[in-house]
Order: sequence, then C-alpha cells, then structure tokens
Amino acid sequence: MSKRIIVTGGAGFIGSNLCDFLLRNNHEVVCIDNFDDYYSPEIKRRNILQAISHPSYSLIEEDIKNTAKISKKLSGKYDTIIHLAAKAGVRYSLEYPVGYEESNVVGTKIILDLAVGMGIKQFIFASSSSIYGNTPAPFREDYTNLNPISPYAQTKLFSEKAGYEFSKKNDINFISLRFFSVYGPRLRPDLVMNKIAGSIFKNEKLKIFGDGSTSRDYTYVDDIIGGIMKAVDYKESKFEIFNIGNGNPIKLTDIITYIEQETGKKVNIEFVDSIKGESEITWADNDKAKKILGFDPKTDIRQGIKNYLEWYKNGLK
Ligand SMILES: NC(=O)c1ccc[n+]([C@@H]2O[C@H](COP(=O)([O-])OP(=O)(O)OC[C@H]3O[C@@H](n4cnc5c(N)ncnc54)[C@H](O)[C@@H]3O)[C@@H](O)[C@H]2O)c1
Repeated sequence: MSKRIIVTGGAGFIGSNLCDFLLRNNHEVVCIDNFDDYYSPEIKRRNILQAISHPSYSLIEEDIKNTAKISKKLSGKYDTIIHLAAKAGVRYSLEYPVGYEESNVVGTKIILDLAVGMGIKQFIFASSSSIYGNTPAPFREDYTNLNPISPYAQTKLFSEKAGYEFSKKNDINFISLRFFSVYGPRLRPDLVMNKIAGSIFKNEKLKIFGDGSTSRDYTYVDDIIGGIMKAVDYKESKFEIFNIGNGNPIKLTDIITYIEQETGKKVNIEFVDSIKGESEITWADNDKAKKILGFDPKTDIRQGIKNYLEWYKNGLK
C-alpha cells in the first residue's frame, strides 16, 4: 500500500538511495535536507537529480531544527518519518566535536516533537554501530555496557534515549536501526571505500591509520534500505532497537585487495598512526532483526564492490 513518508537527510548517501527506492515503489516522499557542507552540497544536488522531477517527490530545503518553517510546507497526514539527517563522521567528530550534539541530539528531539504534533505514529531513527565502541563482538542490541568512544557515537546513544522517553510519553513508535558501515553508489566521500577508489582512479595516496587490520561489517545500501522498510511496517512495539548489518566483518586490507582485483590496479598506501576513538572491529549480530523484522541482507561484498565501482567510474566520465 502506498504511504506518505518524510525522509530527513534525504539528499545524502543513504537518504537519496532510499527516496529513489520509495518513489519506485509508489510511495509519496517529502525530503527534508539543508545540504550542509560536511561534504560538497553539489554532490547532494546530484544525488537527488532523478527524484526531483518525480510528481510524488517534494523537497523542503531547511535545517531540521526550523520546524516552524518546515511544518508550514507539510500538509495532510503522514505515515512515517525516517530520520537520517545528522552530522556524520566518527573521525571528524573526534577532531571537531562542536555542533554534533546540536545537530544530532537536539535535532532529533525537535523532529520527534514535530512528529508527535503531526500525529505521525512511526519514527525510524538512523543509529550507528559506533555506539558499541570496543565492546566484545559480535554486537548485540541487549548489551548494557555500551561504550561509545567518539562524540558522534555518543550523540547516537543520547538520541536513542530521547526516543525511548518520547515513545513512553506519546502515541509514537520509535524504532532505532543501528547501521553498520554502509557502502554502495553515492557513498559519502569521507568513507574509506571512496578513498581507496580515489587512490586507484585519481592516483591519490591512501592514508591507512594503523596497519589495516581493523575490520568492519560492510553493509550494502540496498540491504540497509531493506531493513528500513521492514521497520516501517513493524508496529508491534513502542520502542525497539535493531542491528542492521551484513553479519560478516571484513579487514580493511581485504577490502583493498578486492578492489585491486576488481580493477586490476594497485592502491598507493601510506601507513600512519592509528587514531584513538575508532573501534577495532564492528560486527552485527543480526539475529534479532532477522527473527522479528524478517531482515535479510543478501548482497555479497564482491558484488557490492562491483556495483559501487561501476557508479564511481560513471562519475568520472
Ligand atoms: N554511512 C554509514 O556508514 C552510516 C553508518 C551508521 C549510521 N549512519 C547514519 O545514517 C544517516 C545517513 O548517513 P549518510 O551516510 O547518508 O550521511 P550523509 O551525510 O550523506 O547524509 C546526511 C544528510 O543529512 C543532511 N543534514 C545534516 N544535518 C542536517 C540538518 N540539521 N538539517 C537538515 N538536513 C541535515 C545532510 O545535508 C545530508 O544530506 C546518518 O544519521 C548517519 O549518522 C550512517
């Protein structure tokens, strides 16, 4: 059944892929995005080129905190808010922590207020695997000794707590999805796969912090969208947290090898000291999402990398 869905951060990497998916599946989409300059706003304008001319798509170019302006541009009833807007970047938050709390925690509370005021019953929140810090892997949602080791990760934990309070006091379900290292077409330029591709295709030096032995549970963007859509339809609980990952951690050095094999070219690596605040490994225990939501990540890393590189190469033309 067709739904009316608000996507905050809908011009970003995950958000723009999600909006295109929603439009292909006959939903009506309102994208709220302020095209912030964490990375080039031009990239975000390109991300929404397809969507912008679709009759069921509308764009509200505003900061999520300006709800007075936003609510004037919204009309009628909406089924769901998928809240992706955030200042992203674990590493950047370690260097420049200012503004993370404001954007991510205050911003989330303001959007929650808007949702409650508009009678929206389903709130999907983009949380992060970084919340787990260096707790033992694979990570489970029922861990109580969470150890976020960056300002960015802390804002995601505070936002989940705010969501819990809101869902207790109001007629709204808050479903938090902890995404694990998302990759695919439109990947954020600050993420490592993009840096590897840059080294291959633009002869840029690839700086590796540490020895490259850190592992990430790389999850293809279509599988993330699959998880989001399951959460959109999940109405059995007022508050729930789900890991949304691939379930197979892969070493950075292996990712480099896969990309070298796929392109037939060598990466130019410079090893530098590792950074405090980054986890050694991320690894999703997906049992809960599989059992309760029917989440089913399907994309093999080699296929995902192939799709990603195809998109990257097209952008160079
Ligand atoms: N990419 C990943 O691997 C990953 C992993 C875990 C969690 N997440 C979370 O998923 C969400 C989407 O991530 P992404 O990788 O697509 O990032 P992104 O930076 O590409 O997208 C975020 C979008 O939000 C917008 N935005 C930021 N602050 C805003 C504000 N105050 N008002 C309105 N719009 C604002 C930005 O302009 C951007 O278009 C984020 O919440 C991020 O923390 C991403």
